[in-house]
Amino acid sequence: MTDKIIIIDDEQVIVDITMMILRNKGYEVLGANCAVEGLHLIEQHCPSLVLLDYMMPVMDGMETLKSIRRDFPDVAVIMFTGKGGEEVAVELMKAGASDYVLKPFSNQDLVDRIDNVLRIRRVELLNRELSIERERLIGEIERWNQTLESRVEEKGRELERVQSEIIQAEKLAALGHISAGLAHEIRNPLNSIALFAQILKSVLKDDPESAGYTEKIAREVDRIDGILIKLLDVSKTPRTELSECNLCTVVTQSLDSFEDQISVQNVCVKKQGLDFPLHFVGDPSELELVFNNLFANALYEMKEGGKLGVAAEIEDGQFRIIVSDTGRGIPAEKLREIFDPFFSTKKSGTGFGLSVVLRVVRNHGGRIDVESRQGEGTRFLVQLPRHNRV
Ligand SMILES: Nc1ncnc2c1ncn2[C@@H]1O[C@H](COP(=O)(O)OP(=O)(O)OP(=O)(O)O)[C@@H](O)[C@H]1O
Ligand SMILES: [Mg+2]
Repeated sequence: MTDKIIIIDDEQVIVDITMMILRNKGYEVLGANCAVEGLHLIEQHCPSLVLLDYMMPVMDGMETLKSIRRDFPDVAVIMFTGKGGEEVAVELMKAGASDYVLKPFSNQDLVDRIDNVLRIRRVELLNRELSIERERLIGEIERWNQTLESRVEEKGRELERVQSEIIQAEKLAALGHISAGLAHEIRNPLNSIALFAQILKSVLKDDPESAGYTEKIAREVDRIDGILIKLLDVSKTPRTELSECNLCTVVTQSLDSFEDQISVQNVCVKKQGLDFPLHFVGDPSELELVFNNLFANALYEMKEGGKLGVAAEIEDGQFRIIVSDTGRGIPAEKLREIFDPFFSTKKSGTGFGLSVVLRVVRNHGGRIDVESRQGEGTRFLVQLPRHNRV
């Protein structure tokens, strides 16, 4: 593209001659006789270069130069100065002129200087463009890096989750083998103890104090039996009683069984989406265990009242049941352990509840996630595949 040059000089002869020389050299040239007109032309035509006279009435060259530097930083300026104007020239260069030409000037000198200044200007502009492009590319690389890092982190978290799931599954399998045999072995003598306690009770009917001990024995036997039932729930092999059920009905039935506890503890229940049926193929009695345990845990945390949230929804081809509470929450470092069999922070807890939950959810092709903030509450998210193939 042809470079545009504007000449600003109050002497018309200089303007005319310079215009002629430069047009002959192939430049597009415009002329002005005063600074105001010159600045106006610059604004209109965006030239590459301005030839500016230093000695001009009204607004002199220095003032005009400063104004060009301020408002049109990309325009190069060569100053015309009178004879003996070297000191002035130094000031002009400091103020941002690219070069200066002493009047009277030789045509060749003027053309050489213009060529030179324009070449430097082109390199400078190119440089600037390149550094802008460089900044842009650096920014882009940084963004890619961030995306990559977050993807790696995400994959890392996913891997951790899968690993802990494998460990969990192994723990459950190991526990399953031992507990199934153990529970069976314990139940027989336990039945005998219960039976003998009953016989003793009738033998001791005239000694109420001793008879009371037999009742205590019976209660403890019941407690052990309860633990064994839970242990068997954890280790049960995959369900057999499959049927089409409505997940919302399962959840509601489970919730209803806690009606008394909810009212005694003054807990407010917030249900959402439970009226809409979620048809699912699974084992309803096993699935009920999931919600029984989640509700039991949530209510345990809200002895002084609170809010129990139960929501059902469909997202990404998954049924989602969310059980939330406003209890004490779970410390972050304990979150990994809560699904472990035997992990319990309760005095009389077996630590089997969530292991059962995990087993049943997994056996139905689903997953369970937990979020918790200490002092604010806990939220369990059960996801089950909408089109469960069993
Ligand atoms: N909603 C909850 N809020 C706070 N902590 C919870 C919640 N649910 C579970 N936990 C923590 O996880 C632990 C394990 O729960 P899990 O149901 O497996 O056993 P448990 O409730 O202790 O015993 P069990 O179920 O036999 O009564 C609990 O002891 C408790 O520390
Ligand atoms: Mg529990």
